[in-house]
Amino acid sequence: MKIIAIDGPSGSGKGTIAKEVAKRLNYTYIDTGAMYRCVSLMSLRENLKETDEKEIVDLLKKADIRLTNEGKVFLNSEDVSDKIRTMEVTHRVSKISSIIALREVMREKQREFATKNSIVMEGRDITTEVFPDADYKFYLDASVEERARRRQLQNEEKGIESTYEEVKAAIEERDYDDMHRPVGALTRTDDQIYIDSSNMEIEEVINFILEKVGE
Ligand code: DC
Repeated sequence: MKIIAIDGPSGSGKGTIAKEVAKRLNYTYIDTGAMYRCVSLMSLRENLKETDEKEIVDLLKKADIRLTNEGKVFLNSEDVSDKIRTMEVTHRVSKISSIIALREVMREKQREFATKNSIVMEGRDITTEVFPDADYKFYLDASVEERARRRQLQNEEKGIESTYEEVKAAIEERDYDDMHRPVGALTRTDDQIYIDSSNMEIEEVINFILEKVGE
């Protein structure tokens, strides 16, 4: 069983790239951000406060989160793929993912995936906390400007109203939260293979990763 771990900031293209790499290698694709998003959605539905840590951890313990290789997300058999991408869920997930006890339970759930199949797992703490001994570790980066430009394009395609400035400010705020979390912070380390995709096409990044994995 092989493990490819990919970390990087919001909007760096991790999702698209990890999904495609998994597909070509016939590995299982795991989007850990989606798992945190499921907890955020459940806590909103249960009218919990961000500070109700114990209740939030209990929600995760009871949750059945299923991820498909096509990127669909099922929470207790309900397709929540779109429901976990709303602004409300996104805003709350930054705070919820700082709960230390939640991260511990999450790590166990994430490690379980690797007992069944070879995996490509992406997130913020996969190369550092979840699978520090992964077979391959990548840090996928892109400039804030490029990530904002890509996100704004996606919003336009989906008909979501936003301005480039708003999107850029939101990304900067998330970067700060992601990099300053007391546990599981997004960090660059010497043993990750660093990729700056600011001036790369998606296909180039995929091929770069596949080459490294094939070496
Ligand atoms: O990748 P994403 O935007 O869907 O992630 C959603 C949130 O979850 C983001 O605010 C960071 C957090 N997250 C985390 O703390 N650890 C991970 N391994 C993955 C995501």
